[in-house]
Amino acid sequence: RTKYLKINPLVPELHKIRLAAKILARGGVVAFPTETVYGLGANALDGRAVRRIFRAKGRPADNPLIVHIASFQDVQDLVAYLPPRATLLMQRFWPGPLTLIMPRSDLIPDEVTAGLDTVGLRMPSHPVAQALIRATRLPIAAPSANTSGRPSPTTGQHVLRDLRGKIDAVIDGGPSTVGVESTVLDLTSPVPTILRPGGITYEELQAVLGKVAIDPAVKGQQVEHPKAPGMKYKHYAPAGEVFLVTGDLERVVARVRALVAAWQRRGRRVAVLATSETAPFYQDEPRPDYLEVLGSRRQPETIAANLFGALRNCDRHHADIILAETVKEEGIGLAIMNRLRKSAANRIIRA
Ligand code: TXA
Ligand code: MG
Repeated sequence: RTKYLKINPLVPELHKIRLAAKILARGGVVAFPTETVYGLGANALDGRAVRRIFRAKGRPADNPLIVHIASFQDVQDLVAYLPPRATLLMQRFWPGPLTLIMPRSDLIPDEVTAGLDTVGLRMPSHPVAQALIRATRLPIAAPSANTSGRPSPTTGQHVLRDLRGKIDAVIDGGPSTVGVESTVLDLTSPVPTILRPGGITYEELQAVLGKVAIDPAVKGQQVEHPKAPGMKYKHYAPAGEVFLVTGDLERVVARVRALVAAWQRRGRRVAVLATSETAPFYQDEPRPDYLEVLGSRRQPETIAANLFGALRNCDRHHADIILAETVKEEGIGLAIMNRLRKSAANRIIRA
């Protein structure tokens, strides 16, 4: 049975935190909210506990986990040494949605790093995540709390839908505010390299570091051995087939409408992921079977926050085909497009 703990996200009730911490200390697995997405946590120093995460998610064993900490002091014990610029980045972006890949210490079991000699560390800013990590006095390994391959969970309900009965507890602290995962930045390469774009943008990193590289896998180029092993797997995939429609906005709208009509004629249920700027144009015939408005193009942060929930909603509405507009690949848009491209398995239609 999976314990369900509803919690106040701003002022977490201590007895619920203590209960969850006790489960973690005994080698259990607990899902908890972070500002990016929900994580599925276990004691990062206990290989057996960590293996339970992989089992519950159905995660391939060669995909390493991020280790979550709540104090700057914890870094010392978990890394072999601090790469240049690590301290600067921690001061500037922690707590927050930035994961730093650094040389690991012997304290970290192989299960966490999937045998790599590096470890990803992150200090989340969510009060529940912080309180939980503090209460355990342990580093907590936590991937996103979804079944492997599904869109990441941004609510407690998403977690339950995927993992009910497979994990010891869920702490439900309401919706995650960022909505896409942390930025994964490799500090072991000569130039710091973004392996996965996320809540901290390329532009923000560049302002601090000067030079930042972006791994080719980020923008959908096929690489045989991506640096972040997770980037090679099928990801964020709803049951329906996702197609991205890109180009000049007016032409995108016209093309999406034509595609809706064409698929519906062939008996398919069609969902459209639109923005508030384009939503009015999908109100009259041909009407999509399901329309989700992600947010305004002028506030891409709202689009990021709603994206994974929207993909899950398409499943609930039994969409066979999901047509999604693209956004500009700047700021948080880089992370949005990375997730959309993966959910579409690179099926992109030029309008
Ligand atoms: O926002 C987040 O990062 C969330 C919350 C729960 O903190 N966690 C998360 O974890 O997204 P996960 O496991 O779903 O994604 C971790 C990504 C994977 O693509 C993995 O391959 C990569 O980070 N990664 C982890 N450790 C790595 C390492 N040592 N070297 C390279 N990539 C690593
Ligand atoms: Mg994940």
